[in-house]
Amino acid sequence: MIELQQVNKFFGDTPAVLDFSLVVEEGELCCLIGPSGCGKTTTLKMINRMIETTSGSIRVGGRGITELKPHELRRSMGYVIQSIGLFPHMTVMENICVVPRLFKWERGRAKSRAMELLELFDMPPDRFKDKYPRELSGGQAQRIGVARALAGDPDILLMDEPFGALDPISRANLQRQFLRIQSELHKTVVFVTHDVDEAVRLASRIGLMQDGRIVQADSPERMLSLPRNDFVERFIGSERSLKRLSRLRVQDAMRAASGSDSSFRGVEGSDVPASDCFSASGNPNAISSPHGKSGEEDPGPVLDSGSDLRLALALLLQHGRQRLPVRDENGRIQGELRLLDLLGV
Ligand SMILES: Nc1ncnc2c1ncn2[C@@H]1O[C@H](COP(=O)(O)OP(=O)(O)O)[C@@H](O)[C@H]1O
Ligand SMILES: [Mg+2]
Repeated sequence: MIELQQVNKFFGDTPAVLDFSLVVEEGELCCLIGPSGCGKTTTLKMINRMIETTSGSIRVGGRGITELKPHELRRSMGYVIQSIGLFPHMTVMENICVVPRLFKWERGRAKSRAMELLELFDMPPDRFKDKYPRELSGGQAQRIGVARALAGDPDILLMDEPFGALDPISRANLQRQFLRIQSELHKTVVFVTHDVDEAVRLASRIGLMQDGRIVQADSPERMLSLPRNDFVERFIGSERSLKRLSRLRVQDAMRAASGSDSSFRGVEGSDVPASDCFSASGNPNAISSPHGKSGEEDPGPVLDSGSDLRLALALLLQHGRQRLPVRDENGRIQGELRLLDLLGV
């Protein structure tokens, strides 16, 4: 747990962070967002004492950070920045092992930790461990940067616009992968970004800053549905409702196949894999809707119950459908999602 209490930071007479209070719970992924210059990086660097506070208190795991020795403090925190600065003359393996070596881990242990991390990031060790940074793509290098920060198994991860330099596709891939890894590792993460979409996708809580102050700290859902003032609303942008959809899953809005709904008779109680349903009719609409036009050319996609509703909406619109069937992770038809259902969420 990280607790910041009435923290202030002045550079000379210039205020950078003002009356900043925030608690980041154990295992929480808290995104700090806000316009450039609002104090995000300064706040992050005060947590690991790369920058000293002017006043106020910061506690980590219940202890004031000034009570801890700097090396003890840094040991409990991994730090990731945008241009990750992998050592160019070291291989991937050597780069990841930097921190374990500082900790004087025994060689075998450091190596197996590095292998484990490469696996975790879907980078087969045999292919990647002996490569040099110049042989990696931007996305791969950034993965190694995050892996290196995790190498010493810190409880806390401080990340400053870590995916900021990547193209949108690599960025989305890394976000997805990072979410999966976080759901396994449950680190306490403070993640700085100026990208609202990134924050909405990743955060369990968002702290929005303006001129050194926290304006609103809330779950993404609450921030999107109840922006505290005009600044929050403007910062979040005009697509609030679409952004909210990206937080929700198809399974949250779909109608299950069982139940008394007559329009659902086609699939009701059926235990037939999705693919069989389609081969029978050639048209997924036919299985979920007696009103569906039969003989359509485009069979349309089947939605995965775990995908987000923003994607589902895009597919409904793209295929001009009022409804699409939903399958579970085993590929079985579970129900359907109607365009109308999205109006109510
Ligand atoms: N070392 C420094 N010396 C003087 N002013 C600084 C220093 N670092 C940051 N600042 C100022 O503090 C404010 C916050 O900066 P920063 O935390 O880097 O913002 P952000 O990360 O949100 O873009 C800015 O006005 C910036 O110019
Ligand atoms: Mg910054």
